[in-house]
Amino acid sequence: MTLAEQYRRVLFGWDRAEEAVYPDPARGDIAVSAKVGDILAALVLIHQPDLIVEVGSLKGYSATRMATAMQPDSSIICLEIDARSASATRDALTPLVGQRATVIEADACTALSGIELTGRTFVFLDGAKREYPDYLDAVADRLAIGDVLVADDALAPVRGTYDDEPGGHDAARAGMYQYARRIVADARYHSTLTTSGFGLLISRRIA
Ligand SMILES: C[S@@+](CC[C@H](N)C(=O)[O-])C[C@H]1O[C@@H](n2cnc3c(N)ncnc32)[C@H](O)[C@@H]1O
Repeated sequence: MTLAEQYRRVLFGWDRAEEAVYPDPARGDIAVSAKVGDILAALVLIHQPDLIVEVGSLKGYSATRMATAMQPDSSIICLEIDARSASATRDALTPLVGQRATVIEADACTALSGIELTGRTFVFLDGAKREYPDYLDAVADRLAIGDVLVADDALAPVRGTYDDEPGGHDAARAGMYQYARRIVADARYHSTLTTSGFGLLISRRIA
């Protein structure tokens, strides 16, 4: 299958009926939207990483979208702090990519720095927003030139969205803004913002 065919399959061939098995963000859940899923899949297709690392997988929706787009010999590692969510992610990924998926039930604040970032790497951050600066600390120096780091919720949106996180909305927004300021000011990275969903901040290591 050519890259163009893969791109078409993933961007336009995703069976929308499958969306029904996942929680719909519009119904109050916190998975990325289908559109953001499209963008993540497209980024994976374009970047062709050897390794995808996701922080915060919930029930595996975004992980599934990225795994669908990865190359046959690539692998995905998800860090998820909640046991039931980690198990649900495993159940979602295993039929798709089998042993190429590893779901680790762990706090990414401590576990992320222990993940070996080998080969071309794609990191997707979607854990607790107040912790984004910690996630950045764990990977920014270790990514190689060309690697990609994507953070969801860059627009740190409406009040109420993160009330269930410790520290609530204010702590979430502060973490997100600190992350954004740091990565945008980091000359080693080129960053761009897409406004789909709650905003994806896409950064590529260039130096
Ligand atoms: C917004 S949801 C992730 C949604 C998922 N990426 C998707 O789009 O399908 C955030 C997830 O991050 C997890 N999480 C929060 N803090 C974490 C941490 N320190 N380490 C790992 N996972 C964390 C939560 O348990 C939750 O499942």
